[in-house]
Amino acid sequence: MDQANQLREEVKRLTFPTSSQRKTKVIAVTSGKGGVGKSNVSLNFALSLVALNKKVVIFDLDFGMANLDVLMGVTPKETIMTMVEKELSLEAVVETGINGLQYIAGGHGIGKILTLDGQHMTHFFKEVSSLQGKVDYIILDTGAGLTYEGMRFLQAADDVFLVINPEPPSITDGYSVLKALYMKNNSASVKLIVNRSLNKEEAEQTSLNFQKASAQFLNKTIDFLGAIPDDPYVRKAVIAQSPYLLEYPNSKAAKAIDELVRTYLNLPAAYKLGVKGFLTKILFHK
Ligand SMILES: Nc1ncnc2c1ncn2[C@@H]1O[C@H](COP(=O)(O)OP(=O)(O)OP(=O)(O)O)[C@@H](O)[C@H]1O
Ligand SMILES: [Mg+2]
Repeated sequence: MDQANQLREEVKRLTFPTSSQRKTKVIAVTSGKGGVGKSNVSLNFALSLVALNKKVVIFDLDFGMANLDVLMGVTPKETIMTMVEKELSLEAVVETGINGLQYIAGGHGIGKILTLDGQHMTHFFKEVSSLQGKVDYIILDTGAGLTYEGMRFLQAADDVFLVINPEPPSITDGYSVLKALYMKNNSASVKLIVNRSLNKEEAEQTSLNFQKASAQFLNKTIDFLGAIPDDPYVRKAVIAQSPYLLEYPNSKAAKAIDELVRTYLNLPAAYKLGVKGFLTKILFHK
């Protein structure tokens, strides 16, 4: 059997979750501009879900520099890239971190994952698809901007969290990502998060302006998931290499993240095909 066929067979063998299994949902966190707070949002959102007894894997897909390990103070031994190179199992890559939050590092050159040869691709697919039904959420911390690889992951996710700051460059760059994403996947489920707002009015105004632009120029309504205020405790937590949700649970940022999670869990579920659907899309849909 040739390699392409072998991969197709692997895809077929993957079963859909039964009612007794968890429906694994894939959330991609992205932004237009860098440095707007994606990694902090991904990590603290994940930990807030964990506090509600959800099983969560956070996946560092930053195609430039990995961030999550630094924020958590964890040094992963293996990454997705070394898993593929050395034909390791996914268990060898998953680190169990704070409060049982699971962490997967993409590793150096993770962008190449989309151009692997058949044998390596089959291995990647088989290992990552083993998460199907085992966890509730896979949260992808993607890099900023419109890279080809990043876009493929966004297109395939069940939900995309678009993080913006109230400053105009962050808004316009965020809008460019939104537009590019809808061009690729017209039914993408995008949720807006405003990070570092100075007050409630600024957060609401920013989201309103963004939603208006989206409705007017793209004919799309996007949900506003919530805002996280500009909070000095975020920086303190980053320096302490400990997530603000745990280090400063009473900070405004921590409370805002918990609120954001509650809002998210109350929205109608966008679950489509879970891990199988996600992998099939990133690998086969161009
Ligand atoms: N709500 C906030 N209040 C105050 N400062 C914040 C907040 N969120 C993020 N920051 C600051 O912004 C910095 C960058 O955040 P983070 O690393 O999460 O951004 P990012 O979007 O993941 O960056 P990159 O694009 O480089 O991956 C943090 O180190 C912190 O100092
Ligand atoms: Mg980051």
